[in-house]
Amino acid sequence: MSLSTGIHLAYLAAAVCFIVALKGLSSPKRARTGNLLGAAGMLLALGFTFATPHLHNLVLIIAGVVIGTVIGVPAARLVKMTAMPQMVAIFNGVGGAAAALVSISHFMRPATRGEPTYMAVEVLLGVLIGSVSFSGSVVAFAKLQELMTGRPITYPGQQVVNAILAAILISLGAWALVSTSNLPMLLLLVVSLVFGVAFVLPIGGADVPVLISLLNSFTGLAVAASGFVLQNTVLIVAGTLVGASGTLLTRMMSQAMGRSLFNILFGAFGSVVTATGGADGDSSRSVRSGTADDIGVLLAYSRKVAIVPGYGLAVAQAQHVARELEQALESKGVEVFYAIHPVAGRMPGHMNVLLAEANVPYEGLKEMDEANPEFQTTDVALVVGANDVVNPAARDSPGSPIYGMPILDVDNASNVIFLKRSMRPGFAGIDNSLLYNAKTTMLFGDAKDSLSKLVRAVTTA
Ligand code: TAP
Repeated sequence: MSLSTGIHLAYLAAAVCFIVALKGLSSPKRARTGNLLGAAGMLLALGFTFATPHLHNLVLIIAGVVIGTVIGVPAARLVKMTAMPQMVAIFNGVGGAAAALVSISHFMRPATRGEPTYMAVEVLLGVLIGSVSFSGSVVAFAKLQELMTGRPITYPGQQVVNAILAAILISLGAWALVSTSNLPMLLLLVVSLVFGVAFVLPIGGADVPVLISLLNSFTGLAVAASGFVLQNTVLIVAGTLVGASGTLLTRMMSQAMGRSLFNILFGAFGSVVTATGGADGDSSRSVRSGTADDIGVLLAYSRKVAIVPGYGLAVAQAQHVARELEQALESKGVEVFYAIHPVAGRMPGHMNVLLAEANVPYEGLKEMDEANPEFQTTDVALVVGANDVVNPAARDSPGSPIYGMPILDVDNASNVIFLKRSMRPGFAGIDNSLLYNAKTTMLFGDAKDSLSKLVRAVTTA
């Protein structure tokens, strides 16, 4: 067997690892194995790439691997769960930049002049998509890291400006195809970077996770384009897989938010806060708040309790205490389940990952479609740091900006308890009428503290 056949077989094995890894990542039970398999595939692909004949600049390549490892490993280990979306954004952006650099460095080699047009188109796409993904991801990172405002940044004629930028990009691409100079390609790089920023500015913070998933699929396509440029099969396969899975994830997230991708990208959602969505809610309506002791008794004497986690559970790192409360209730004979909304938190699978960390058995987690019929027979829905995903306005108020988003119908439970710190709205900035409902009791405070008090109250009840 020749060396080249051996490398191609290793690439094939790596591609199989990536596909099986993606399958594994689609279920909480198999996600860890899927992740390890994906990493093994990547190691295999990387290792065999070093065996490629006539590999130049070995020292530079190894230096790149070392620098990447020194930055990547601590970043991944130290990142807080709530900061994961911005880390994905910045890593994704760097991937896009790498793909764009590969394409542009290939284009600038004199030997590439006279290559077939389809090769030049691949180079163009690599530069264009990779640069848009890079600059767009940097702005997405800045929004999520609160280095700049998370609100949509809009100005009159913005869509026209963006359309003009897109037209300039197409013209520069056409010029680069027929020109023998490097100038049109360099201009394409600069305008693509500007376009990436202009494209992301009007997208509000609440929609940025969807945007990141879309940019992730862009990076996949840019990587596939650089795979064609370098004639490297595994880059083509891996890039296409990232492109396809990123597109599917983007679609699933938009559906779970009940909005079209067009509305998310161009609707400047979140630029206007509803009249009642101010910092401390609507002071003209009355709110009932309770004590941990009273609520503990209510929980301990219930038959069925639903725990509904949201972003606040992640902020408070309250997953372990939630598990303690579940166990305390179960020891009193109460049936407990967790109701998981697909976009609870700030990233896909956010709640599943947190609860898995606290060893909550998968059987105890009910996805939205399975959980909703259960609320009719639920005595207490305990909403822990969730807001938008239980807001009835999404179901009942056609004028609401979140109208159409499927929600967890916690208002069908006999009692609703909200654990949050104030009357402030959730990420969408929309007032939640359920907070003022007659069957609702508020337990104000940090979710972790409140849950600890509830564990004590349930144990002594
Ligand atoms: P949110 O609607 O953002 O509400 C979270 C609530 O947690 C807030 O009202 C906040 O109220 C409370 N909170 C914050 N820190 C807390 C703490 N330490 N202790 C107790 N409570 C705390 O969260 P959600 O219901 O999970 O909804 C997710 C939102 O993100 C939706 O709008 C969704 O569309 C959007 N989104 C999600 C995703 C994915 S993939 N998950 C992607 C894009 C957008 P206080 O400030 O009063 O405490």
